[in-house]
Amino acid sequence: MKVSKKVAGVEYAIRDIVLAARKVQQKGMKVDYLNIGDPVQYGFQPPDNVKQALIDAINRGENYYSTSEGLVELRDEIAKKENAKGLSICADDVLITNGVSEGLDMVISSIVEEGDEVLLPGPYYPPYASYVRLHGGVPVEFAVDLEHSTPDIEDIRKKITPKTVAICLISPNNPTGVVFNENSLRDLVNIANQNNLYIICDEIYDQIIFDEKFTGIGKVAGDSPVIILNGFSKVHLMSGWRIGYIAFNQSPRLEELRENLPKLARVRIATNLPVQYAALESLRGPQDYISKFVSEIKLRRDLVIKRLNEIPGLSCPNPKGSFYAFPKIEDNRFGTDKEFVTKLLESKGVLTVHGSGFGTQYGSGHFRLVYLPSLDVLDSAMTKIEEFVTQ
Ligand SMILES: Cc1ncc(COP(=O)(O)O)c(C=O)c1O
Repeated sequence: MKVSKKVAGVEYAIRDIVLAARKVQQKGMKVDYLNIGDPVQYGFQPPDNVKQALIDAINRGENYYSTSEGLVELRDEIAKKENAKGLSICADDVLITNGVSEGLDMVISSIVEEGDEVLLPGPYYPPYASYVRLHGGVPVEFAVDLEHSTPDIEDIRKKITPKTVAICLISPNNPTGVVFNENSLRDLVNIANQNNLYIICDEIYDQIIFDEKFTGIGKVAGDSPVIILNGFSKVHLMSGWRIGYIAFNQSPRLEELRENLPKLARVRIATNLPVQYAALESLRGPQDYISKFVSEIKLRRDLVIKRLNEIPGLSCPNPKGSFYAFPKIEDNRFGTDKEFVTKLLESKGVLTVHGSGFGTQYGSGHFRLVYLPSLDVLDSAMTKIEEFVTQ
């Protein structure tokens, strides 16, 4: 029976690679999973007050369809959070989604038509390219200096064509941990404005920052057409509950999009209502669980980056945020980055993701690992990687 070419072409390296790990496990080898960016699978949990808020909502009978745009109290709280980062928005500028993933799909399907080009930071989180392709568009990667955490503005300038409709930013970034500073964000907003592009900015890791203060796009947005994607999967440890949001800057140029995009929210009816109450509690309740989580993973980052840079043949810039390291394979006698990752898995049982899964242009020759497991597991995985690379 027929399957559309669009769907047959969809890939998601982070999860696709798990099939190979299962085979290795079936042969009796223990696998260290350093592939999935989900803190909850590594022992972190939402705090008790947030879990209780979910249970209480269910027991109160809040088990019906919510409004399509989501609970007004939650949207109001989200507007406050975004305003603290520099925007000036209200509940009406926020739409609750089933995670950033659904928000991304809604945004891309609302602005991309056949042949339209969307600029993505290279390397990028794979669903950005998948959704652009699925909706008939063409993802175009721009260069980012991973050492200095800066976008290559000249490269962006060269890659803008009459078909370019948007520039996507992911800061802090998956897979590199790059965080753009205020000057870079200003340059990006300027170039987008000069070319009448939407700016789509994913800030899902906005509080997972280690060394410097975070600057959100809101601080430099002015009245540019900025669409923020954010959610509760990472900072708020609610990955399995599937909740996120789209926030629109109050730009006159967003008027038409804001009229049309919510139709998609209405078609899919609503998001999970009890979870919206839990998300509300996660914003209103004590916030100290976030700083505890971030200081825990900072220790893990420090260990992993030190160990990686001690391995001859690997080099890795210090990630400023999120929970990923993206080492470069300086001398790959194993072939492609995918072969490197597969052989590492088969010989040592360490599961990482090949860099080309995050875009071939800038991701190839690298691999991504998640430093969420415990220090013990990470230390032993680093030893296995060292043995593999130096054997
Ligand atoms: C940059 C980025 N955006 C979005 C997501 C997925 O977000 P959600 O769980 O809200 O769909 C991820 C998950 O890894 C991510 O790294």
